[in-house]
Amino acid sequence: MGLHQRIEEAIERVLAASTGAGPEGLGRAMRYAVTPGGARIRPTILLSVAAACGEDQPELTDAAAVALELIHCASLVHDDLPCFDDADLRRGKPSVHVAFSQPLAVLTGDALILKAFEVIAGASTGVEGRGLKLTAHLAMRSGAPHGICAGQGWESETEIDLTAYHKAKTGALFCAATQMGAIAAGQDPAPWEDLGSLIGEAFQVADDLRDALCSQEELGKPVGQDDLNGRPSAVAQYGLEGAARRLDDILAGAIASIPSCPGEAALAGLVRAYADRIVPNAVRALRPVPGE
Ligand code: IPE
Ligand code: IPE
Ligand code: MG
Ligand code: MG
Repeated sequence: MGLHQRIEEAIERVLAASTGAGPEGLGRAMRYAVTPGGARIRPTILLSVAAACGEDQPELTDAAAVALELIHCASLVHDDLPCFDDADLRRGKPSVHVAFSQPLAVLTGDALILKAFEVIAGASTGVEGRGLKLTAHLAMRSGAPHGICAGQGWESETEIDLTAYHKAKTGALFCAATQMGAIAAGQDPAPWEDLGSLIGEAFQVADDLRDALCSQEELGKPVGQDDLNGRPSAVAQYGLEGAARRLDDILAGAIASIPSCPGEAALAGLVRAYADRIVPNAVRALRPVPGE
């Protein structure tokens, strides 16, 4: 089974078990927020690192991957609310608060966050040590001072530290992806932090470039938001060409940082393929043509 199918099936099992009972609207909103998905890049990285580390508990790895994606989806639901980015479109369809209501969007985000931890706990029988480490890690990367909450919290400061902002807002869940993959496979997560952090940084620079260069139709979400909301971004800081150069450097560093392991070459291939996907065509045009 390919990684994509494995992720979708694992997500579907969790949704099927958790959205049938209870208030119908909330159940529908939870499913709406998670499917159809976006790129599913975080669970893909998690499963790839687990495989590279000699995965031996596939159910726990699946749970970790689903939990991470649920936290990501929850963060998007909250991020789109009028009190944050006030964005009406997400993944090419109306945002949760537009399709349902603001109260249901707040509850959907909350319920998905809690579901993430329930899923890890439910898969930890017999591997409680790993389960506890996964729980602590996911909580740390989602909350404050090192997680998504901290990242979003920077937007309420008058002076924003761009590096700290990006690290917490975006980098945290990429570190969670590499490190939770290692933990699920019973390995030390420490050597995997740099890879997660560099992929996260590359992703954020690419996202800033896409926000500046792509259309709403291409992205399925509003564009020009950084400029509109006066947010610091790699494009504002380095200019378009500078940001594109920075993206190439970070990606090369990410590949070089992959720890030695049996799956090292396969992981490098994944990072290269991923780099090709996140770089918008408009950025390719900014790169110097070799020989000119
Ligand atoms: C978007 O993340 C949010 C940011 C961290 C900038 P993705 O681009 O991974 O979103 P989906 O899951 O593919 O829609
Ligand atoms: C969203 O960041 C990242 C979260 C932590 C939720 P952005 O606001 O920059 O991303 P988009 O453009 O809405 O996807
Ligand atoms: Mg935002
Ligand atoms: Mg946003």
